[in-house]
Order: sequence, then C-alpha cells, then structure tokens
Amino acid sequence: MSIKQIMVIGAGQMGAGIAQVFAQSGLRVKLNDMNEEALNKGLTGIERRLDRAVDKEKMTGQEKERAWKNLEGTVDLRSASNCDLVIEAVVENMEVKTKVFQSLDAITPEHAILASNTSSLPITEIAAATKRPSQVIGMHFMNPVPVMKLVEVIRALQTNDETYETIKELTEKLNKTSVEVHDFPGFVSNRILMPMINEAIYTVYEGVASVEDVDSVMKLGMNHPMGPLTLADFIGLDTCLYIMEVLHDGFGDSKYRPCPLLRQYVKAGWLGKKSGRGFYSYE
Ligand code: CAA
Ligand code: NAD
Repeated sequence: MSIKQIMVIGAGQMGAGIAQVFAQSGLRVKLNDMNEEALNKGLTGIERRLDRAVDKEKMTGQEKERAWKNLEGTVDLRSASNCDLVIEAVVENMEVKTKVFQSLDAITPEHAILASNTSSLPITEIAAATKRPSQVIGMHFMNPVPVMKLVEVIRALQTNDETYETIKELTEKLNKTSVEVHDFPGFVSNRILMPMINEAIYTVYEGVASVEDVDSVMKLGMNHPMGPLTLADFIGLDTCLYIMEVLHDGFGDSKYRPCPLLRQYVKAGWLGKKSGRGFYSYE
C-alpha cells in the first residue's frame, strides 16, 4: 500500500521527532496536538534541530526548506480525513489512547493504517477498540527519534500481513531498521530496559550509592552512552512509571514492582528533563 500523507498525533518529544524524520525523508506529514501552545513547542523544536543540522553542514539550506514544506501543523483532528497513515504519540495512558483511536477510526479513510508509538501498552487492546483491528499496529520509535536507528514493529493479534509489510517498508524509507515483535507487555525494548532503570532507582532509594555514582557505574563500567538515571530523566519519569505499571500488571510478577521513589517523584511533578527537574536539575 502506498503511503503519501501521514499524520502524527501528539507534538511532544516523540511526536515531533517522528514528524521530523518523515518530513526529512520526503513524505508529507501533519503534526497534531490538543492546543496551539503544545503544537508550536513541537514545531519550534523541529525547526531548531533542522537549523542546527544546516549549521553543522549535515544538511543544505535547500534540504531544510524541502523538509519544512512537507510539514504542516494542525490542532484539528479532522484534518486526518485524507491520511493514509496516522501515528499516535500521546501520553502513555490506555484510556486517552483508546479515545484517540476511536476518533481516528471515524475520521480517516477506510484504507488508512492506524499506528501507535506506545512504549508498552497492548496493541491488541487498542486495535479491538476500532472497527479496523487488522489495520492497527505498533510503530515504536526510540528517543531521540532523529538519531536512533531502531523501530520496533509490533503486531497485534489482529494485524494483517499487508499492514505489517507496509510499515516495515516505510521504516526502511526512513533509513531505520525494524524488528518484528509480538504483542507482550513492554515488547522487547522496555521489557529489558525499564527493569534496569527501575533497579537503578532502587539502588538510590536504598542508599547504595548516589544518583551520580549509579550513573557513573553504568556509563564508565558498561559503556552505556547515558547512565540509567540520566536516561530516565530523558525519557520522562511519568512514562517510566507507566511502563513499569504495564509490566507489573501484565506479567503479575513482583520483580516488576515500580520503585516507591519513582512514584514519589512523579507525584511531585518531577518528571525529568521535560519538567525541569527529575533525578537531576535542568533549570
Ligand atoms: N533530539 C535530536 N537529536 C539529538 C538529541 C535530541 N534530543 N540529542 C542529541 N541529538 C543529536 C545531536 O544533534 C548530534 O547529532 P549530529 O551528530 O548529527 O550532530 C547527535 O545526536 C549526538 O549528540 P551529542 O554529541 O550532543 O551527544 P551524545 O554523543 O552524548 O549523544 C545521545 C546523545 C544520542 C542521546 C546519546 O546520549 C544516547 O544514545 N543516549 C541513549 C539514548 C537511548 O537509550 N534511547 C532509547 C531510550 S528508550 C526509548 O526510546 C523507548 C521507550 O519507549 C522509552
Ligand atoms: P510527551 O509528554 O513529551 O508528549 C505527549 C504530547 O501528547 C503532549 O504534547 C500532549 O499535549 C499531547 N497529547 C496528549 N493527549 C493528546 C490528545 N488527545 N490529542 C493530541 N495530543 C495529545 O510524551 P512523549 O515522551 O513524546 O511520549 C509520547 C508517547 O511515546 C507515549 O506513548 C510514550 O510511552 C511513547 N514513547 C516515549 C519515549 C520516550 O523516551 N519519551 C520513547 C518511545 C515511545
């Protein structure tokens, strides 16, 4: 199936990055958020990153203009009515995502594929909330989207082969590598990554070592590009907690219990880089 017009729902750190890579790859993309402020934040971030790429001579001014022209911002979800593919990247909450999918199901053309960038929520359940479950799929990009090469492509129980093949081919067009994953809590990426981050939070909670020292162990001792607590701040502590809850509920195993300190930080509104404070301060 040929994908010509795409829409990304949610102009946060993931949605804006996803829209950027589509626009850079020559595909027309609309970026949507609930209000002008959130939308403009996403669009401004894209423009800043494109300008930086021109300054660093990784892109010409003309290439930047071409990418920018492929991009359109909108706060009106009805503008999805001419889209072949919609990728949802709103908050990691099943109720919110289900509502978005049901609205999209009513607005988009019959042939359109509806994809979710969810980090951990069951695609099978999202698909079941629509009248086109065989055209629903997980397209899980990694953060920061313009840099990271992987896309986990998650097949819901209902996803048909045509939908899977279309998304796999599209991922290649973006110059990224896809991995086929079946629909289990946390998929592969977060089933492995998030318990490590949660354990790093436990080591701080139990007073084993300081935030900086835990990060140093993993950066200098294991050659990770970022320590787990820096990475948790980068991902967003609310997102980390949602993912741990999905793993805990989904597997019913106490090894996935979210660290109480993570819960406390989220309750305090200390969500990491995006809120100015998490395990580190960004003010
Ligand atoms: N957005 C876009 N581009 C970014 C960026 C951002 N937030 N941060 C850095 N970059 C780009 C820079 O512009 C630079 O690009 P060029 O080489 O083209 O100039 C490049 O990345 C390297 O940046 P820096 O030299 O400033 O910094 P670095 O070498 O320390 O790399 C990093 C930054 C790529 C983020 C690196 O620290 C890293 O790989 N960290 C780990 C990231 C990771 O694990 N991501 C997965 C998170 S989990 C997930 O996404 C799944 C989930 O569901 C939660
Ligand atoms: P974010 O908080 O940066 O952005 C979410 C955006 O969605 C906000 O701009 C918000 O205004 C918008 N939004 C919320 N409800 C909406 C609605 N009904 N319609 C339109 N817009 C709406 O979050 P994020 O980090 O970009 O995460 C988005 C999704 O991507 C989540 O499902 C998350 O689990 C997943 N994800 C996150 C990461 C990460 O590292 N942060 C990595 C991969 C996947």
